[in-house]
Amino acid sequence: MDKFDIVIIGSGPGGYVAAIRAGQLGLKTAIVEKDKDLGGTCLNIGCIPSKALLTSSDHFTFAKKEAQKHGIVIDGVHVDLAKMQQRKDKVVKTMNSGVRALMKTNKVTAFEGFGTITAPGKVSIKSSSGPATAGQEIETKNIIIATGSMPIELPFAKFDGKTIVSSTEALTFTEAPPRLVVIGAGAIGLELGSVWSRLGSEVTFLEFLPRIAVGFDLELSNLLQRSLTAQGMTFHLETKVTAVKIDNGRVSATATKGNEELKFEADKVLVSVGRRPFAEGVGAEKVGVEVDEKKRIKIDNHFRTNVEGIYAIGDVIAGPMLAHKASEEGIACVEIIAGKAGHVNYDAIPGIIYTNPELAGVGLTEEQAKEKGIDYRTGKFPFRATGRAVANDDLEGMVKFVADAKTDRILGAHILQHAASELIAEAVSVIEFGGSSEDLGRTCHSHPTLTEAVKEAALNVEKRALHIINR
Ligand code: NAI
Repeated sequence: MDKFDIVIIGSGPGGYVAAIRAGQLGLKTAIVEKDKDLGGTCLNIGCIPSKALLTSSDHFTFAKKEAQKHGIVIDGVHVDLAKMQQRKDKVVKTMNSGVRALMKTNKVTAFEGFGTITAPGKVSIKSSSGPATAGQEIETKNIIIATGSMPIELPFAKFDGKTIVSSTEALTFTEAPPRLVVIGAGAIGLELGSVWSRLGSEVTFLEFLPRIAVGFDLELSNLLQRSLTAQGMTFHLETKVTAVKIDNGRVSATATKGNEELKFEADKVLVSVGRRPFAEGVGAEKVGVEVDEKKRIKIDNHFRTNVEGIYAIGDVIAGPMLAHKASEEGIACVEIIAGKAGHVNYDAIPGIIYTNPELAGVGLTEEQAKEKGIDYRTGKFPFRATGRAVANDDLEGMVKFVADAKTDRILGAHILQHAASELIAEAVSVIEFGGSSEDLGRTCHSHPTLTEAVKEAALNVEKRALHIINR
């Protein structure tokens, strides 16, 4: 077999997008994936199936609780969970075949099997399910490690896949557990907690920090917590889980909150306390690739490891563990390998929690601006003051901008709204172009749309929003 220009290990949104870009640039490219299907955690057991269940459960809540406000009478609303899960599986399958087709059209060779770097420029592939590529070794000029991450396991709450579960199993429950305890109120916990709460579980969050959604703007995170509480979820903050015990199929979590010891009985416990880089067996360390104290692969600002010809992107390196961050890094890394000027602007990477309302943020939060000693101004605007939100009966949430007080450059944007994941894109573009709140405030926005709240919040950095009296 001819030598490849690039071999990418891992076909998640980092790896497969890197492969597409490499194909576009005419590089002879291979992708090695240990699982049967392409797409990695995000497509198979993460972002995509969770969004399928979030959407289905959101529709159910609408039918049950909101539809009648619109004059829509639906009798006998109930959930057919098996069907809901089948739809989710179909969504995943559709996306799987989409990625496979993209590999083909971009002339990327996909190998099924576990890829191990045996030496710089050499990757061995051990197939788990078929003889096709078993024992094969391929040669390449460059290797990109894009092997992603795994859920962190608590030493006192080992995953058993049934009662103490990670996000993977929490996406496949065949019935809503009557009581679900969620350890960790970050993106995964809040999203999957929402799904099962909507489908009938009593959901209790045990969170170590004094707040939920760490990393997002505090004011909006607090509003999200209030909203989720009103939806029936329970939060215990500053609560440190110390033990999880299974007894006769029942599970209980013991936690300390101040001087108090609390006990929470449940049917299932979801542990969502973060993810850790995954590169076990990939051989990186064996060939001398350096890792940091958190086992993340060390790279320079061109995604190069300390070993010539070996690069790394995505969750396996430092930075937020986000699919789109990995994709951008994949593109930039391949462009750099191809001799172009690939670059990722880490100041313009949005983060989203897909609850209802959704919480989205990009750039600096107000707390971060304060911490950095930046002279900043904020502009806020509530959705309830826009005609579209009133017409939609979707009044919750607001937009908040953090702008430099002197230059007016937008440093951060934060949105809490049912459609925040879509609305944040405008702010991301303006930040990418180095725009100011005035630029955005002077831009015409269609009426009536929710985007008017984005414009109005930008205007309100100058305290000149139009449709609000109390600024
Ligand atoms: P996370 O890091 O977002 O949140 C974990 C939470 O668990 C933190 O608030 C932490 O304080 C808490 N915690 C840690 N140890 C604890 C303990 N012993 N007791 C109680 N609380 C404890 O992690 P999460 O939600 O598991 O997500 C993992 C990664 O995946 C994150 O980097 C996240 O950004 C990413 N992700 C992103 C999604 C999105 O963009 N929508 C969706 C899912 C995951």
